[in-house]
Amino acid sequence: MNPTPRLPDSFRWGASTAAYQIEGAPAEDGKGASIWDEFTARPGVIRDGHTGDMACDHYHRYAEDVALMKGLGLDAYRFSLSWPRIQPSGAGPVNVQGLDFYDRLVDELLANGIEPTPTLYHWDLPQALEDAGGWLHRDTAQCFAEYAAVAAGRLADRVSTWITLNEPFVHMAYGYAFGVHAPGRALMLDALPVAHHQLLGHGLAVAALRGQGAERVLIANNCTPVRPAGGSPADLAAAEAYDTLHNRLFNDPLFLGRYPDLSAYGVGDPSWGGVVRDGDLAAIAAPLDGLGLNYYNPSWIKAPDNKAPDNKTPDNKTPQATDSGLPFELVEPDADAYPRTAFGWPVVPEGLTELLLRTRERYGAALPPVWITESGCSQPDELVGGVVDDQARIAYLGSHLDAVAAAVAQGVDVRGYFTWSLLDNFEWAEGYHQRFGLVHVDFATQVRTPKASYAWYRDKIAAHRRGAAAGGAPK
Ligand code: BGC
Ligand code: BGC
Repeated sequence: MNPTPRLPDSFRWGASTAAYQIEGAPAEDGKGASIWDEFTARPGVIRDGHTGDMACDHYHRYAEDVALMKGLGLDAYRFSLSWPRIQPSGAGPVNVQGLDFYDRLVDELLANGIEPTPTLYHWDLPQALEDAGGWLHRDTAQCFAEYAAVAAGRLADRVSTWITLNEPFVHMAYGYAFGVHAPGRALMLDALPVAHHQLLGHGLAVAALRGQGAERVLIANNCTPVRPAGGSPADLAAAEAYDTLHNRLFNDPLFLGRYPDLSAYGVGDPSWGGVVRDGDLAAIAAPLDGLGLNYYNPSWIKAPDNKAPDNKTPDNKTPQATDSGLPFELVEPDADAYPRTAFGWPVVPEGLTELLLRTRERYGAALPPVWITESGCSQPDELVGGVVDDQARIAYLGSHLDAVAAAVAQGVDVRGYFTWSLLDNFEWAEGYHQRFGLVHVDFATQVRTPKASYAWYRDKIAAHRRGAAAGGAPK
């Protein structure tokens, strides 16, 4: 058997988090309300009524958390900036105290030799902008670019790598089409303008960031290799339609400067009925320095069979299509075909190799270098005698890193890997019930306990560096 190919010597190691999932301090130092503050206050929308009001209290404990990153030997840390901390009403006045927090965090990271890698938007829109129409409204894109300029104006002297949006697909689908995430709108296909306005915001923000001296700009897209459940022409067409919505809608305009054919979704004209205006695609296709890919699992798709509505609440990234009029239906792979995470998601590391190869094949020379900006799993972690022995997470991370190395060996330019997540945190609709961290958090006491996977990741990073220093010798 061939040894697993090595990752490049210059490969960068990271971990990811997001503001609403870890910071807490929802109204401190002048912060405005976000759609997640408003949404989590509604009865019945989050499991057990959990909210992000305290989360990991990272706003106050960031120095302890940076020390944990230092202990791992991270090259880079991906976190997100809370827009309403910086601009409480989403436009106009800037809250200097909000910027001060990120300034302190950036300095703490740099003092510990860790590259700050902020994402401007990880789903926490200022509530005032949602009240004005949110991402259904074109002006939100312009506001986003202004916010990007404000953030970079303060931080770009020390921050060189910027990520604009996190997972515009998931935000559109879960937040605006199915309504299980903030802002809780269930618009189904009428949510499509949310895709365009986020992408337009991204494109305008790229220009704004560069105007403030940002050196590298990326986007983080959630992508999934799509597998037809059967071989029938109807299943193949359904799989193609799903691939269009989940992957191509968010990548084609960036790298090809055009949207894919959306006729399966009833969108016949290239302007989507006036949503896409002259010049928009040119702005969206502004050159990027990298594509961030967030990968969790493949999607198995069959043709819809027009069942009666089943009112199932989606508990994962899977639109429940049976009652929807959508041109696809997501199906589960066989129960025993793959191991499952605590969330029930199938563990399919080779899907990551497949995704990387397909993405390169699709965009060719137009594809910039790739970073894996999220990869990780929830597990039924238990803290026993001060130890969380999360062997399943170790196996997950190891196999997914091997999957990256396999794609690199086949010529895909992958520069780094950020695991999701540094800390157990607020897992959106699941509240605190799904734990994804390398570090266990006791949410009652805020005590942090590194898991077995923390030590494993630390050792993996150190071994890679030793190999690189030795000229890449050990295979
Ligand atoms: C589900 C899978 C599904 C996939 C699609 C996961 O959350 O568990 O069954 O195929 O999402 O993205
Ligand atoms: C999101 C994270 C989330 C993770 C696990 C990604 O879609 O960016 O915020 O915690 O998946 O569900």
